[in-house]
Amino acid sequence: MTLVAPSILSADFTELGKDIISIKDSADWIHFDVMDGVFVPNISVGVPVLKSLRRATDMFIDVHLMIVEPQKITKAFCDAGADMVTAHVEAAEPDGINEFINIVKENGKKVGLSIKPSTPVEYILPYLDKIDMVLVMTVNPGFGGQKFISPMLDKISALKKIIDEKNLNCLIEVDGGINAETASLCRESGAEVLVAGSYVFNASDRASAIASLK
Ligand code: DX5
Ligand code: ZN
Repeated sequence: MTLVAPSILSADFTELGKDIISIKDSADWIHFDVMDGVFVPNISVGVPVLKSLRRATDMFIDVHLMIVEPQKITKAFCDAGADMVTAHVEAAEPDGINEFINIVKENGKKVGLSIKPSTPVEYILPYLDKIDMVLVMTVNPGFGGQKFISPMLDKISALKKIIDEKNLNCLIEVDGGINAETASLCRESGAEVLVAGSYVFNASDRASAIASLK
């Protein structure tokens, strides 16, 4: 099973509703990137845009928080209509990360944790049995359209092995530089959810682009 989650970071924000309609029959989830200009060197969208998006679609919305101290604003994203909320393990101290996980669960949503390319897999292990998904970043977070970092394939395989050995119910998602070629490598390494921004939204036939990732 492979799920494809187009990232709206590469959509046209003046036509967001139309862009969502263009992928709704071919994509599985919508990936919603939140950046604060502190955790990453870019600022994107937040709670008000998520609220509007929630009114526009009943698709599963996968919120990716690239912000410091995510636990302080997690509930607002749950209330705004996220189906899953993922934060970075590097973005708070362990107490803050555990608080983040608890808030998402208390609000009845799926919870994920992400690791940047420079963060070893070991950092995620203490949380693995508490979360629904690990997001392995395959570019440095902050911008769409970057090149896939190939050594991340080893990280995906290592994580897959641990998840299988422990018999955990935890998906592996990848994000950054995904196209038909890198998607195939990620799937072979054990990734189950593929985020793709520029590859999908810059394609003339978005449904075919999504199909080529599966
Ligand atoms: C990057 C974001 C990604 C981004 C991916 O920090 O988390 O979701 O939109 O863009 P592409 O698929 O163009 O690399
Ligand atoms: Zn993302």
